[in-house]
Amino acid sequence: MADTTDDRGVWSGKLAFILAAAGSAVGLGNIWRFPTEAASHGGGAFLLLYLVFAFLIGFPVMMAEMTIGRNTRKNPVGAFSFLTGGNKLYILIGAWGVLCGIMILSYYTVVAGWTFSFVFEELFHFMGFGGLSAWFGDTSSGLNNAIFSVLFMAATITIITGGVAEGIEKATKTLMPLLLLILVILIGYVLTQEGSMKGLSQYLTPDIGKIDTEVIFAAMGQAFFSLSLGMGAIITYGSYLPKRENIAGAAAYVTLFDTGIAFLAGLLIMPAMFVAQSNGITIFADGGLKAGPALIFQVLPNMFHNLGGVWGMIFGVGFFLLLSIAALTSTISLLEVVTAYAIDEHGVQRKKAAMGVGSGILLISLIISFNINLISTLDLVFSSIGLPLGGFLICLFLAYKWGPENAMEEIRQGYAAFDQSLVRKAWPIFIKVIAPLAILYNLLSTLYGAF
Ligand code: TRP
Repeated sequence: MADTTDDRGVWSGKLAFILAAAGSAVGLGNIWRFPTEAASHGGGAFLLLYLVFAFLIGFPVMMAEMTIGRNTRKNPVGAFSFLTGGNKLYILIGAWGVLCGIMILSYYTVVAGWTFSFVFEELFHFMGFGGLSAWFGDTSSGLNNAIFSVLFMAATITIITGGVAEGIEKATKTLMPLLLLILVILIGYVLTQEGSMKGLSQYLTPDIGKIDTEVIFAAMGQAFFSLSLGMGAIITYGSYLPKRENIAGAAAYVTLFDTGIAFLAGLLIMPAMFVAQSNGITIFADGGLKAGPALIFQVLPNMFHNLGGVWGMIFGVGFFLLLSIAALTSTISLLEVVTAYAIDEHGVQRKKAAMGVGSGILLISLIISFNINLISTLDLVFSSIGLPLGGFLICLFLAYKWGPENAMEEIRQGYAAFDQSLVRKAWPIFIKVIAPLAILYNLLSTLYGAF
């Protein structure tokens, strides 16, 4: 392996790491998927379950990934190889993670491209160029999808080429506060509009009657995807974490940040839907609230257009910028996993690795651009099934191969009071029993539902 130590990099400090990991976690999953899942699954009831899963399952698994990463200082493949003396079977867990990273990034890039394309849709609408506005707003146009996938991947590669401290860290340090600011301003605006209180009450009043097994699984899957767990993204980010930092604390902050942003996004989207309704826009379809692309790319743009004028443009552009920023800090984490793999395992120089891997994945994105119906299948295989599967295997690996004692030896570094903490008592039980069982249950039911 050539001299690649410089190409690995290290976070400048705790805040940098937390922001970057939170940037990975906060994405389209929070601002788009969470609110609509909540909308279709009993509002507050879903919120409650999601919070329970994020903290009871997500948080322990996140600690597990961070610990594996920091202990091995490697990408997922290298990490499992290092801890098992090159055992092929265990390396497969890491390889599966890298594959999921490649595939999730390939379609995530296309969807991220849509969100950026809509920044222009809103701008041109405001300027009165209806034709142009419609072109940028056409998510079924292969050419449009391809152009914006290229743009988005280029931005992602540029940041990853800069490395850990100069690239990822600098980008997330600027983008995350900006994201929070735009989000809060948009919420402030929406809550003053007519109809918003109806959405608010639907979001915050738990309809316990709506809780059934399907809702439970949806909430757990959402927590997993949203926290970027199960494929080694957090292993990779953890591998740049200095020994002096507290893993349990960092994982807690990232979980809080991610769930906090999801909660705030719900405060924006749910009321916005009912504001749109009071503007005469249809927000129900197939017996439920509109969700997914129909919500994000029809209901909301309609609402912004209805508002009209400079303010309509400002809020429309602001909203799609918000989505683009959230997506960008997530795509960089996905590309970083594959880049770190190429650097560590194949001795490729960072710049070459980022460009090579990024362009390769872009080719898949281009195919998807012209065949967007592939997205739901890819999402099912590599996210809904792939991530819980990866998380399940990570738990089993840590609990029964590497051993919680070894892992806790790593956690102790940077956490002096660890042995007196509640985390010390509870974490091993969650990793050995509760999380794997819960994930397995979720996984089997997803498989059962899918086939
Ligand atoms: N968590 C991101 C979101 O909510 C998506 C994401 C980024 C992701 N990196 C990941 C999901 C790694 C799983 C694994 O949109």
